[in-house]
Amino acid sequence: MLQNRRPRRNRKSGAIRAMVAENTLTANDFIFPLFLIPGVNEKQSISSMPGIYRYSLDLLLLEIEECIRLGIKGFCIFPSLEDDQKDKYATEGYNKNGLYIKALKEVKLQFPDIVLMTDIAMDPYSSDGHDGIVEKGEIINDKTLEILGKMALIQAQAGADILGPSDMMDGRVGYIRRILDEAGYTSVSIMSYTVKYASAFYGPFRDALDSAPKFGDKKTYQMNPANSKEALIEADLDIEEGADMIMVKPALSYLDVIKSLKDNYNVPITAYNVSGEYAMIKAASEKGWLDEDKVIMESLLSMKRAGADIILTYFAKEAAKLLKK
Ligand code: PBG
Repeated sequence: MLQNRRPRRNRKSGAIRAMVAENTLTANDFIFPLFLIPGVNEKQSISSMPGIYRYSLDLLLLEIEECIRLGIKGFCIFPSLEDDQKDKYATEGYNKNGLYIKALKEVKLQFPDIVLMTDIAMDPYSSDGHDGIVEKGEIINDKTLEILGKMALIQAQAGADILGPSDMMDGRVGYIRRILDEAGYTSVSIMSYTVKYASAFYGPFRDALDSAPKFGDKKTYQMNPANSKEALIEADLDIEEGADMIMVKPALSYLDVIKSLKDNYNVPITAYNVSGEYAMIKAASEKGWLDEDKVIMESLLSMKRAGADIILTYFAKEAAKLLKK
């Protein structure tokens, strides 16, 4: 058969396939989310996230050390608190002597070269389990900003490299940027959770932090999964307000949104490969229904192909190991 163009020629060997690959994964792409608990020598498993643990600070440091050896450079720490430390105003979230801030300082002291990312939102500390202040069943936007600003400032003081506002309140990026700049923290970055959907894929994370909303849902602040144009409004605002990097969350069901941000903006794009996406692959693999290693790499690569520069993923450690093979 006469045929000028035969795409299979570019697939004929492993060497050629590698040469023409349009996208690659490296450990540099990853940020590994870690869960922190009080105490010493504590390591708790999370039933909906096999292979992921909540660590006390001493063990968290060992875990980070191991990940650094595998080439991971980015870490994002989330605190998991007891109910008696939670209140309506997330007061523990801006306690300079609290568990979270102490841990951030220690991590940065021990590992000055990593990229240390933090989380800004009220939910881990809120007795209502919401990301903002609740009054008469409503989430109050502008009052919440004051609390987020306090959290941002002490996290910057503790040595965070990147702050991650994950709350979806309007105007929070600009508000936080101003507070940081006025206090002299002009080089602390903001990675905004720009396009965060009201997703059921966060279930296992809420198990990990015991942070599920006590009433209602998060649909008045997180985005409707039906929408993609609205993502451009969120991105316009966040970039105008000073976000250095923007995020889409979750990743796998929203690859179109990642692509659309990549096509429309020039700042780095992050995909958050969330807890439910992790749990699905783990569950199917435990049953022997999927080849876990291959599915992990294929799904992470799909996020890069869609346009993600950075991937927040619970698979970071496993993927870094696989990349070393
Ligand atoms: C909340 C927050 C959530 C996640 C990160 N920060 C959950 C939520 O909005 O309820 C989810 C991450 C995951 O599922 O892996 N500020």
